[in-house]
Amino acid sequence: MSARELIATAKAMVAEGKGLLAMDESTPTCNKRFEKVGIPQTEGARRSYRELIVTTSGLGEFISGVILFDETIRQSRKDGTPFVRLIADAGIIPGIKVDTGAKDMAGHPDEKITEGLDGLRDRLAEYFQMGARFAKWRAVITIANGIPSRGCIEANAHALARYAALCQEVGLVPVVEPEVLMDGEHTLERCCEVTEKVLRTVFNQLYTQRVKLEGLILKPNMVLPGLTCPKQETVDEVADATVRCLLRAVPAAVPGITFLSGGQSGELASARLNAMNVRFKSRLPWALAFSFARAIQQPALEIWKGQQANAAAAQQALYHRARCNSAARLGQYRTEVENTVDSRAR
Ligand code: 13P
Repeated sequence: MSARELIATAKAMVAEGKGLLAMDESTPTCNKRFEKVGIPQTEGARRSYRELIVTTSGLGEFISGVILFDETIRQSRKDGTPFVRLIADAGIIPGIKVDTGAKDMAGHPDEKITEGLDGLRDRLAEYFQMGARFAKWRAVITIANGIPSRGCIEANAHALARYAALCQEVGLVPVVEPEVLMDGEHTLERCCEVTEKVLRTVFNQLYTQRVKLEGLILKPNMVLPGLTCPKQETVDEVADATVRCLLRAVPAAVPGITFLSGGQSGELASARLNAMNVRFKSRLPWALAFSFARAIQQPALEIWKGQQANAAAAQQALYHRARCNSAARLGQYRTEVENTVDSRAR
């Protein structure tokens, strides 16, 4: 796989008006979300739900790539057609989550280190064979009293860079995801300071590990006040703080930034992404797009409830959120777009 192909894939992932749909919840996370809305936590139910997503008609208008989980990349539509084939036929690039989860970090109370480097080279080769063209690895950074520590930031950044180098070796575009969590009372300024430090450390490590910046996608958090912080900034203030932070820490050679939603509502995530593109799009070196799981899927999951009879309405809701985020990507998201009833998806 040549550098040229890697770069072409990375560019296609942030094509104008498009972004990524994360549907890579691990089995425990997917089960937790199912349990909340009363869906049985079985392999069959997870397969049916993922089939609903990948067979949503017209999704490829707004979605450039989907991120799958190991169980999902091996699954098929009821008639036996592999999901990966359906996704590629819809003009969408298949991707795969390859970390094995964030675990408690030794010597670092309340902090996590993401695992999954052992045996990664062979797993990546298998995923490439199966049709994946990009991968994802998520590091988790918590803000609280006295944390994040230097040890936690550096270890996670190092693992992200090792993963990214292995991805590029096999021809997969690495989606590099250092997530600073929203949980906590911290202010927007503190989130900005931590996010900048984390991103600077990640890019130092990517450089040390000889990762090609042109062939990766960054998936960061938006710069937000903590969920329980009494002061909650406006949409425009969040957009300004996020872009200011990214401009300081993300090299211009990176083709695109696809935000995670992190527990924001669908509408707020769209509004904030939109504000960034309205205010800064023409002046930025990289595309600002999305790689949302909950902020795209949640309404569809709540409508579906595990019932086939609700599948069409759920697909309509999924299509709608994808469309809203596509508009946000272009700086064209507004009330009329949010209130449009989409009948395109069937
Ligand atoms: P959320 O958009 O729900 O935060 O999920 C994105 C993701 O892929 C987290 O790793």
